[in-house]
Amino acid sequence: MSPERALAAVRAAFVAYARGEWTMPPKVYVPAYPEGDFRAMPALGGGHALLKWVTSFPGNPAHGLPTVTGLVLLSDASNGMPVGVFDAAAVTALRTGAAAVLAAETLGRADAETAAVVGAGVNGEAVARTFVARGRRVQLWDVDSARARSVAEAIGAEVARTREAALASDVVVTVTPGREIVLDEGSLKPGQHASLMGADGPGKAEIAVAELARVQVFCDDWEQASHNGDLVHAVEAGALRRDDVVQLGDVLIDTAEGRQSDEDITIFDSTGLAIQDLAIALAAMESADDLGVPQLDF
Ligand SMILES: NC(=O)c1ccc[n+]([C@@H]2O[C@H](COP(=O)([O-])OP(=O)(O)OC[C@H]3O[C@@H](n4cnc5c(N)ncnc54)[C@H](O)[C@@H]3O)[C@@H](O)[C@H]2O)c1
Repeated sequence: MSPERALAAVRAAFVAYARGEWTMPPKVYVPAYPEGDFRAMPALGGGHALLKWVTSFPGNPAHGLPTVTGLVLLSDASNGMPVGVFDAAAVTALRTGAAAVLAAETLGRADAETAAVVGAGVNGEAVARTFVARGRRVQLWDVDSARARSVAEAIGAEVARTREAALASDVVVTVTPGREIVLDEGSLKPGQHASLMGADGPGKAEIAVAELARVQVFCDDWEQASHNGDLVHAVEAGALRRDDVVQLGDVLIDTAEGRQSDEDITIFDSTGLAIQDLAIALAAMESADDLGVPQLDF
């Protein structure tokens, strides 16, 4: 699936969820710390139900294994029959790239020029690919400079000269393991937008609480982001309440305001939603015939 198709599908999913047409119980975390965790992520919409069984094991790449892996199951919601099984890593990368760029395009300044992705792993690469597909020049920065170089070469992006240069871009996307703060207090400048994708589970953070308290905050889903995303630290510290945070879907359907001026600093906190996975699985099913994928007929 092209990143552009994924972006359109994920946008439609945020809209359907905001309108109450799609439903999604919060994901369930099954901790296996310190190594990582499992998540069970259900959603219902488009005549189908989905369950993603997916991991985050941040130490895996050192052993040649992916951080994120698992399976996605898609069933027909009219009779409960299974219709598809998908590779969770592929679905996750497509929908994570799509959500980061959707948020950046919705909340960033209309005249934003420079874009950077910090953390060029599997999902950072997917974000950068999506930017490139949208015709935007993108810089990559990673603590592993060889990784940044090889991804940049593979997708036609650039390597940022320094971490500071990357973080000074009009649009910044962070996709790090969330073990250390990337955006300290005072680091974001007027007019910037940051999509924070890496901190998607307990104990992770990419932005300082004091910086969150200073900027305009958006999230994918309040229920999930306030319990397991970057926001949880600010909520626990009493620095952020429900009224301070706007969900991306509400901006897309015009029931909430997005950026209000070119001087605003906007951030989008993503923990990743099953509706995004459902959007990709449904879009992928459209291509099943063309690809000759064998199909069950009930
Ligand atoms: N929000 C979502 O929807 C979503 C989706 C998928 C993954 N994630 C999360 O995103 C994170 C990254 O996932 P991945 O699959 O790309 O992992 P990955 O292991 O493939 O990539 C992580 C990359 O970050 C780099 N890195 C580590 N610390 C860094 C730092 N301080 N600054 C810059 N780069 C740094 C690593 O060198 C590596 O290249 C994980 O925490 C994962 O759970 C979130």
